[in-house]
Amino acid sequence: MSKFFKTFLKHAGKDFYNQSVNPPVVRASTLIFKSIDDIRKMQNKAMKDPIGGHFSYGREGSSTIFALQKILRTLEESYQVFLSPTGFGSVFLAIFSVVRPGDEIIVSDPVYSPTRALTENFLKEFNIKTVFYDPNNINDLKNKISKKTKLIFVENPGSNTFEFQDLSKILSLAKKNNIFTAMDNTWGTPYFIKPIKLGFDMSIVAATKYYSGHSDVMGGSLAVNKRVFKYVEKANKVSGLRLSPDDAYLITRGLRTLDIRLDKHQENANKIASFLIKNKKISEVLYPIKKNKKKYKMWKKYYSGSSGLLGLKVKSKNKRSVFKFVNSLKLFGYGYSWGGFESLALYQDVREQGNRKFLNLQKDEHLVRLHIGLEDPKDLIQDLKRSLRFIK
Ligand SMILES: Cc1ncc(COP(=O)(O)O)c(C=O)c1O
Repeated sequence: MSKFFKTFLKHAGKDFYNQSVNPPVVRASTLIFKSIDDIRKMQNKAMKDPIGGHFSYGREGSSTIFALQKILRTLEESYQVFLSPTGFGSVFLAIFSVVRPGDEIIVSDPVYSPTRALTENFLKEFNIKTVFYDPNNINDLKNKISKKTKLIFVENPGSNTFEFQDLSKILSLAKKNNIFTAMDNTWGTPYFIKPIKLGFDMSIVAATKYYSGHSDVMGGSLAVNKRVFKYVEKANKVSGLRLSPDDAYLITRGLRTLDIRLDKHQENANKIASFLIKNKKISEVLYPIKKNKKKYKMWKKYYSGSSGLLGLKVKSKNKRSVFKFVNSLKLFGYGYSWGGFESLALYQDVREQGNRKFLNLQKDEHLVRLHIGLEDPKDLIQDLKRSLRFIK
């Protein structure tokens, strides 16, 4: 990753007016003006320069929000970044901005399960049809494109099963058919891959995860190119979505160390994956290490690094023994929201994967998800070694 990215994160957002290294928290519902002329001037500026941070009402933002938007715009190399109170809010905004009744959406099958519920179930009520494609078969995606397809929504890698897709092939199909594209890039963040630069119209990151990095904030970012900006701006205005200045401040503070944390998550996850791949009870380590040739090859084509979230396919006829493996881990907390500094483990019940059509799981195979934190990897390996013996 470029030196620029690392140095930029340490210097961005300084506020010389308030003499503060970090942008101060400006909490305001009312933004105050001296006169009717002043407020009109601000509104005119906003019309001429819609990405310039010219706000006249608290829901539009404050200087704290604008500081974070500017940082993320640079990281994403995008035209604008819209901030939401959760990562899922950003998913919703991306879809809501470009899809209308009568349209169709094509979504990668291993998508984050609430994204699946939104598209498959909820949007159906608005006469918007969703079809899911096999992330390992570009022809399946190609065959599902119709005249009505408005959006291809990709999550890369796939939630829980970590499929890496050939992104340029997806983008060229979309371009040929004049279809909008969105990618959920929460796993990689723009530190490891920049979807907008690659050609996606929209790129989503749940700031809840690595951006904030300390498991105590929720937030979402939606980066867009110029092509979709006007649609997202319009939808954002009527959505009521707004990130709080306090959360924006914490996310900005978290971003200072994004590169350092992700480098270490990567280093630790590689050590753990190399240890786990040798264990006979594990049929596949779902992480792009060299020994997992398929994942490694496709990951290498697009990513400059890998984060700390990985999956395991565990082989066992005894489900309860896999539970015991997970439950007896002492350094891995049991919890859903990853991306913080600490390690986590989760048994991924197939029922929790939604109505997946291309879930490539053999009989007696179980999915376990691990988030590899910033602890000493030797301690994590010891913990795993001690608990793996419970798998029967
Ligand atoms: C890939 C992915 N996208 C989006 C989200 C949603 O983020 P949030 O929990 O902030 O709504 C998550 C949360 O787990 C996620 O894993």
